[in-house]
Amino acid sequence: MQIPFLDLRRQYREVETEVTATLAHMLARGVYILGDEVAAFEDEWARFCGAGGAAAVGNGTDALALALVASGAVRPRGQDEVIIPPLSAGYTALAVLNAGGVPVFADIDPETYTLDPVAVERAITPRTRAVVPVHLYGQLADIPAINEVASRQRLVVIEDAAQAHGALPGERRAGAHSRAAAFSFYPTKNLGAYGDGGAITSDDLDLIERVKTLRQGGHPAAMRLTLAGRNSRLDELQAAILRVKLKRLDEWNRRRLQLAGDYSRALSPVADRIRIPSAREPESHVFHLYVVEHTERESLRAHLAAHGIETLIHYPYLLHQQPLFKAGARQPLPVAERAATRIFSLPLYPQLRGEELRAVTTAILDFDF
Ligand SMILES: Cc1ncc(COP(=O)(O)O)c(C=O)c1O
Repeated sequence: MQIPFLDLRRQYREVETEVTATLAHMLARGVYILGDEVAAFEDEWARFCGAGGAAAVGNGTDALALALVASGAVRPRGQDEVIIPPLSAGYTALAVLNAGGVPVFADIDPETYTLDPVAVERAITPRTRAVVPVHLYGQLADIPAINEVASRQRLVVIEDAAQAHGALPGERRAGAHSRAAAFSFYPTKNLGAYGDGGAITSDDLDLIERVKTLRQGGHPAAMRLTLAGRNSRLDELQAAILRVKLKRLDEWNRRRLQLAGDYSRALSPVADRIRIPSAREPESHVFHLYVVEHTERESLRAHLAAHGIETLIHYPYLLHQQPLFKAGARQPLPVAERAATRIFSLPLYPQLRGEELRAVTTAILDFDF
């Protein structure tokens, strides 16, 4: 059996009838960018997250950059430091650079792979203005502890929630725990468009209005440039697609949690040899990715590949080791560096079939550890 890491066509088949009808309607309507669908999606997304408001933009990288600028955390001089984890998608660091800031790396917690609040405190300098906890792999970072450090040190917290749509069901989910949050709707995300898309959420409605100005450099009706923003708009088709999928997001996240539980139970006999993911609280993880650790990662991945099972590494390079950051990190990052040599991701998405999951766990149990 061939088991791909992700097959998005299966999700499409679930929403096909509704999406194609919506798209036909949207195409015939003649409004294609920043119209009623985008406004309706912004309202629905803010309500879903439990935040005061939302602004939709072109992608998650812009969402994070614009949140850093609109919150006043990063000013145009190019000296303001923003603390981020070294284990994340490259876009987290790019967003800080695009906003005009300087990324500074702080180590992560070995259990959750999210920013370690003690390491954050150690990375603070007189130039630090903001902290960006990444809810990596779908798990909320330790927001209470990070908010506590940040408020003591007068830093702005902006959540990178690109991988954690809907985490912590309840009134306030990922995206409603800090000054502002950034989401990506890249197709593979828990809520994904059929192209690029992103959004900022915040309780500060002035901040949301500033983002709406920044996303087109001024107020479009007046055709006046008032802010040095960027052109980063969500189109009506993507907004309409996101509205269809949003209705299913909780159900899809529940399925992810179920599959993660199935993986962890099946792998428990080898839990002393392969590290399975742990959730700080059960509902704080929406398993965007199911990431395990093994010291002989490449032989285990080769064994799985020989059984037709595709695995990936998120992420093969730590941010401070990327060629772009020649100066590297200012402080040692031993937890991230150890994890980076061992982590890899197993196939997990709502439409993964039970027999596929069993084939993966059977192949792992079969490995000569
Ligand atoms: C943690 C994280 N931050 C930021 C981004 C950037 O989002 P986008 O690809 O929509 O620009 C992504 C997604 O790729 C991500 O996974």
